[in-house]
Amino acid sequence: MPGDSFAAAAADAEKRLASAADLESVAAIERDLLGRRSKLTDAKSRIGDLDPAERADAGRRLNAVRDRAEAAVAAARERLAASARSARYAAERLDLTERLPQTAPLRRGHLHPVTQARDRLEDVFVGMGYTVAEGPEVESAWYNFEALNIPDWHPARGSFDTIFVNLGEPEEVMLRSHTSPVQIRVMDQRKPPIYIVAPGRTFRADTADATHLPAFNQIEGLAIDRNITMGDLAGTIDEFVRAFFGREVKSRLRPSYFPFTEPSAEFDISRPDGSWLELGGCGMVHPNVLRNCGIDPEQWQGFAFGFGIDRLAVMRHEIDDIREFVNNDVRFLSQF
Ligand code: PHE
Repeated sequence: MPGDSFAAAAADAEKRLASAADLESVAAIERDLLGRRSKLTDAKSRIGDLDPAERADAGRRLNAVRDRAEAAVAAARERLAASARSARYAAERLDLTERLPQTAPLRRGHLHPVTQARDRLEDVFVGMGYTVAEGPEVESAWYNFEALNIPDWHPARGSFDTIFVNLGEPEEVMLRSHTSPVQIRVMDQRKPPIYIVAPGRTFRADTADATHLPAFNQIEGLAIDRNITMGDLAGTIDEFVRAFFGREVKSRLRPSYFPFTEPSAEFDISRPDGSWLELGGCGMVHPNVLRNCGIDPEQWQGFAFGFGIDRLAVMRHEIDDIREFVNNDVRFLSQF
């Protein structure tokens, strides 16, 4: 039995397997070497023909060659699998510490234009000696209306287009329709003199259009002290308008009506073309409102004002449509 020639063939196959470039050539070599029609298989089937004395030795040698060939095939398969794996790892590699060169500068985000306006407003009023107060967005009828001198029969309730929350008695709980309830909460908790501004989200059942959003932002101002007059109110508004829009911008008050202020006014700002633009409401705090908070109107007076922050940002940046603020289009927002 020419066992040594098998050994030589196996050694040759081993060499070919070691340099096989893909799984198909490994399979071809395996078929040649170990397949049903290979010499090795053929020799094994003919062992029975050998002299009984030679059989055992020939069988052992054939098996050794076979084991060696099988090991070589397995090694070739593993080698190819390993190199396929490392090629895949290299292709999928992510360098999480990589810094891109200057060709792709990092894009930094920034605060939303309405948030920027709110921050600037706070700065202006803090500079004038005010502190910043907050109140809840879900309010009771007491804070949103009654304490502000708007009893339930009052027609002004209808004009707020309030969004009610289905809790408690009907129309008892609501999303605040203005920031004025924060006036009440602050006066409940603090003794005068009081100088606060209260920015925050407010809600009305309005359909969104170019000048309205159902969820918008207001800022409330409240000053309570001794001997405060309408002149202090006008001066404060004028000062804030100039600080926010620029020294050349003027303000004016026009008589108006709010249940929680008496007298009441609307305030406008001047535009470069000489026209006036309405910004918000204001007035001297109504004595009933002071009494509702346990403050004696004979000793303390004050003024309050409120206006929309989104609208202010619209004017400042000359934006055509207030809905742009909630569309979250980066091409729009990145301009500010
Ligand atoms: N709360 C009023 C509104 O939303 C504005 C206002 C505030 C008027 C304070 C007077 C005083 O329309």
